[in-house]
Amino acid sequence: MVDATSLPLLRTVASVRAHVAAWRERGQSVALVPTMGALHDGHLSLVRMGRAQADRVVASVFVNPRQFAPAEDFDAYPRDEMRDAELLAHAQCDVMYCPSPEEMYPAGFATTVSLEGPALTLEGATRPIHFAGVATVVAKLLGQVRPDVAIFGEKDYQQLMVVKRMARDLDLGVDILGAPTLREADGLAMSSRNAYLSADERVVAGRMNQILAEGVKALSGGADWARIEAECKKGLEAAGFQRVDYVAVRDASSLAELPPGAVRSPARILAAASIGRTRLIDNMAVG
Ligand code: PAJ
Repeated sequence: MVDATSLPLLRTVASVRAHVAAWRERGQSVALVPTMGALHDGHLSLVRMGRAQADRVVASVFVNPRQFAPAEDFDAYPRDEMRDAELLAHAQCDVMYCPSPEEMYPAGFATTVSLEGPALTLEGATRPIHFAGVATVVAKLLGQVRPDVAIFGEKDYQQLMVVKRMARDLDLGVDILGAPTLREADGLAMSSRNAYLSADERVVAGRMNQILAEGVKALSGGADWARIEAECKKGLEAAGFQRVDYVAVRDASSLAELPPGAVRSPARILAAASIGRTRLIDNMAVG
């Protein structure tokens, strides 16, 4: 592994701004890759995309308390700063930015981004405070780093659409780019939360992408989307998922419901389901 000490680890807004200002003076462009750490190859593929898009890459690692509901896994969320630093150094990231909760949300902090449109459905319906927390921290990170581009994974497709909408609506002056989902050999989308799965649960988890892929195939053949949603839901339950929050075929950018029948415009199939205490999400392009 590359020596992690070669990677500047910055903890304050002032220090990340100073670094970026020095690059700007040299006329260099900047990409931001926001993460919550516990990095895997999916995150590192975003860093590589950042390198291809800009002269410099900042990766932020911040487990954002405001996007977890009280009953969710904020305390249990995996954290390993040294390992993350090594992986980022190896991926030729230029700076790792790890603000503390106090740096991000100083005393008196009183502002939250309020969202409509693509944020209200699916994950937004199941996790009511989630996207307001995501949008607020992403708006802050964009304001702190002021990158030319910011890279988000299609793995969290609804998040990508919410952030794109926010950047457009609030004229944030940054290009929001989506990167394809990196998968394990059986197709399971890489996720920091996969670490929670037992060996038996891991086998079940690998079925989600296969069931969605079967759905995509049927939809591409002209099947009625409502029927495919129901069939995929049944398939997930039969595979061993104990709770299926949703399987939904939606418009690819607004995430609005489609007119009844076959899919006739760019669409996405999205699913969320739990095995034991682990909640997994995945999605695929339709057509
Ligand atoms: P986190 O779950 O750490 O994900 C950071 C970024 O990595 C997100 O843009 C996510 O979509 C992307 N990602 C995760 N798994 C991926 C995979 N298998 N392939 C490609 N990209 C993948 O998403 C968050 O953090 C947070 O909500 C954040 C945006 C940082 C705000 O707190």
